[in-house]
Amino acid sequence: MREVEQQLHRDLPETTVWGYEGQYPGPTIEAKRGEDVYVTWKNKLPTEHLLPVDTTIHGAEPDTPEVRTTTHLHGANVEPESDGHPEAWFTRDFEERGPFFEKKTYWYANEQPATALWYHDHALGITRLNVYAGLAGFYFLRGKHERKFDLPKDDYEIPLLFQDRTFNEDGSLFYPEGPDGAANDLPSPSIVPEFFGDTSVVNGKAWPRLTVEPRKYRFRMLNGANSRFYNIELFQYDEETDEITGDGPPIIQIGSDGGFLEQPVTIEDRLLLGPAMRADTIVDFSDYEGQTLLVHNNAPTPFTGAFDTEDAQPLPEVMLIEVTEQKKDDHDRHQIPTELKQVPDLEQCKINQERDLTLAEGQDEFGRLKLLLGTQESPNGLDWDAPITENPTVGDTEIWNLVNLTVDTHPIHLHLVQFQVLGRRPFDVDAYLQDATADGNEVQAIENYYTGESQPPEENEEGWKDTVSANPGEVTRVIAHFGEFDGLFKDFTGEYPWHCHILEHEDHEMMRPYEVLPRDG
Ligand code: C2O
Ligand code: CU
Repeated sequence: MREVEQQLHRDLPETTVWGYEGQYPGPTIEAKRGEDVYVTWKNKLPTEHLLPVDTTIHGAEPDTPEVRTTTHLHGANVEPESDGHPEAWFTRDFEERGPFFEKKTYWYANEQPATALWYHDHALGITRLNVYAGLAGFYFLRGKHERKFDLPKDDYEIPLLFQDRTFNEDGSLFYPEGPDGAANDLPSPSIVPEFFGDTSVVNGKAWPRLTVEPRKYRFRMLNGANSRFYNIELFQYDEETDEITGDGPPIIQIGSDGGFLEQPVTIEDRLLLGPAMRADTIVDFSDYEGQTLLVHNNAPTPFTGAFDTEDAQPLPEVMLIEVTEQKKDDHDRHQIPTELKQVPDLEQCKINQERDLTLAEGQDEFGRLKLLLGTQESPNGLDWDAPITENPTVGDTEIWNLVNLTVDTHPIHLHLVQFQVLGRRPFDVDAYLQDATADGNEVQAIENYYTGESQPPEENEEGWKDTVSANPGEVTRVIAHFGEFDGLFKDFTGEYPWHCHILEHEDHEMMRPYEVLPRDG
């Protein structure tokens, strides 16, 4: 990790960014299923942060070194010592190390389904700043099936890392010192409840355009934004008049966060990608020779799962795609296979434990909104530092009911595992909150609060997921197996985080440790 100058747009002066291998985004790592990969993540960053650090946030206290890094491979089934635990941070040249630091060289087993993972910084209390500064990159795990499917490859397979940034006039990155119009008894700098940039940045380029041939492409999409959801669709676009002139090609999704879907899903409306989520997609430009297409986003900020929010300020223009008149050759024989890869059904497993876990609103000592994760026993939420409450035994299967008591959608991520989404079910938030705040905090099991039927997951969620949208007023139910399953994944025990992937939430206590216990206790 180094600090470098990079030009992110033709009309922008150079921007100081932090990049893996001195580039933003970091280099794409290509790994093969079943082959170990070892990476030594080295910190060569300055000792002063590029962005405003709030030292009242957990892990960022004034006595900790200001610049700390730890690299998490998001979506990886990995041993805890190589997971990039938030407190396994280290400073430049490993001079200082956090309490959970175990080793310099991380081991990735790659025993999980082929998919696009991504690596990013995860240092406690400054993850939002380190990722915003540029510390993120792709990690493609390749499997045999991919070759069999004959998917577009090489120049026709393109990673798309969607992010939003705001730039100062001198080209430097802008990140707020504190909330707008906040009372001045807040610390300075002060963490913001979420951050939305005004400029679309894709693969480290502001307002980019991509030239494609009129044929099929495979786009590996990733939402790498701090807080923004993307809800995208392709349109024909007239640059002169800045107008949408017609529909573009549909997005065909073939893979979710953690692997191939069983069948390709033609996205009828729009593709929703919450922070950290990935979509493996095919787009066919054959019928759009010579056209300009706009990748359009309409997800409101903050995102609540609804689209009629009045004060929504989406970032509608994500990027332009120019389709050339001709293909370089005629070898676009790729047919999208109708059957992809069977996804073993975790519901067949014996359920060892079902947990009600809350997404709750709290306040910190400065009166700032603080989002938290809690349990049935502590429904109003627990801090990162509170004792572990989720502790499956290796080999166990559990259902986690994510009970969202807040007003926003939170993208909830579990380390170590790929899980499956069982569904979403409406519940009586007021009754639950009433019980949660009554003397004694006696909330009952969640089934006592349901107000309607369970909705099945979206078609493009019917595969392996590691991050799921938990909407307000709903219980989002996920099932996870904590160990090897059907020849996939490995048994690992130890401590891992689970958290909201809105980085401003994660840094401000919306993160909890969980522990996978060994089988003999
Ligand atoms: Cu992508 Cu715990 O993070
Ligand atoms: Cu959140």
